[in-house]
Amino acid sequence: MDHFQYKDGRLSAEDVPLSDIAEAVGTPFYCYSTATLERHYHAFAEAFRKIPVTICYAVKANPNISVVRTLADLGAGADVVSGGELKRALTAGVDPARIVFSGIGKTRDELAQALDARILQVNVESEPELEALSEVAVSKGTEVAVAVRVNPDIDAGTHEKITTGKRENKFGIEWTRAHEVYARAAKMPGIRIEGAAVHIGSQILDLTPFRTAYLRLRDLAAMLRADGHDIKRLDLGGGLGISYEGELAPSPSDYAAVVGDVFGGHDYDLVIEPGRAIAGNAGVLVSRVTYIKEGATRRFVILDAAMNDLMRPSLYGARHAIEPVVEPVTGEMAEDADMLEQIDLVDVVGPICETGDTFTRGVRMPPVAAGDLMVIRTAGAYGAAMASLYNSRSLVPEVMVRGNRFSVVRERIDTDDILTHESLPIWIEDS
Ligand code: LLP
Repeated sequence: MDHFQYKDGRLSAEDVPLSDIAEAVGTPFYCYSTATLERHYHAFAEAFRKIPVTICYAVKANPNISVVRTLADLGAGADVVSGGELKRALTAGVDPARIVFSGIGKTRDELAQALDARILQVNVESEPELEALSEVAVSKGTEVAVAVRVNPDIDAGTHEKITTGKRENKFGIEWTRAHEVYARAAKMPGIRIEGAAVHIGSQILDLTPFRTAYLRLRDLAAMLRADGHDIKRLDLGGGLGISYEGELAPSPSDYAAVVGDVFGGHDYDLVIEPGRAIAGNAGVLVSRVTYIKEGATRRFVILDAAMNDLMRPSLYGARHAIEPVVEPVTGEMAEDADMLEQIDLVDVVGPICETGDTFTRGVRMPPVAAGDLMVIRTAGAYGAAMASLYNSRSLVPEVMVRGNRFSVVRERIDTDDILTHESLPIWIEDS
């Protein structure tokens, strides 16, 4: 459930009509609902009451400091994958003792940042990284808590670009080599082994791969303990999928039941790293129709939002529900044949010079006209986070709503702003 509903005929974020925000900030813009973020965080916290976990929100899903702060205020920790995300988590007030740092290519500088911040643990993904981390820790005269991320060789059944737990993927250390790698790590100065981690992918709608991966992790942890390693913490990663177009998605409590089945009665401290399941439905992208174009074979609804604002459809073929902000009059979406005749089948596209700049194809939509406001749903995760400046477009504003108030939490970053960071080379300037 989210808090983007029609109220008095206008789609609203909590108690604020999206059209009011559009008036104030222009389009396109991202809009986040505090109540939805809170609801989703609470759903996880409630679901895991019987099998306690540290919820480390995956900052990559939506790194806006207002989002991270809203969650931190509820007790969330953070899963970060870069020095930038670490900085954001700390700026937003996340307790460093609840921050885990993942990623296959952390630089020495980033590792040093993590050590300086005294975070909970670094999830190490390779032996060269272990060596680098050991060196950095020694140079600082300190020790760092480490979990090795193991690759459990499990197919999460999700899009190939966001599958991470298969043997051929670049992530983690092959689980069959864990015994050997932990033995090496245990001898390295500055490294204090505290746990193991997995993350098998994202937008996972079937719980079976989680169960299989967690059973494998549990067996591995028992083996590592038998080897004499002090495995006290297991990081289960993120990846719980959500509904974009009415798909059946497991709830946090379905997921918690699997975690409980596998780890109930064991004495590990557990960490989970949900991103999408918390932020996805807490955000929408609001856009205005620029033109309706009658093409040779179809009708195009051309929005002022584009693939640079929301990459997911062009990158993963993802389909986000798209709706008008003004509620369609009753019957416009009716299923009966007469009505269907009058309902347009359209492609919703952006203005960018690529055919891939298409949000959705061949959808039924109530009549829309140039100037209408449209909303692209479920854009709170991996939306603004992945935006680019392609075609010299802007990074669009981000707005957060709470009750009947809204606040711009990131201003539009436009070409004027970017041009202040560009310059001509001296050989041209001098001429
Ligand atoms: N932990 C780690 C180590 C991760 O790599 C990820 C996501 C997460 C947690 C959070 O996963 P989530 O709960 O959000 O599924 N851009 C893609 C998704 C990429 C996910 C990358 N890793 C998309 O838009 O679908």
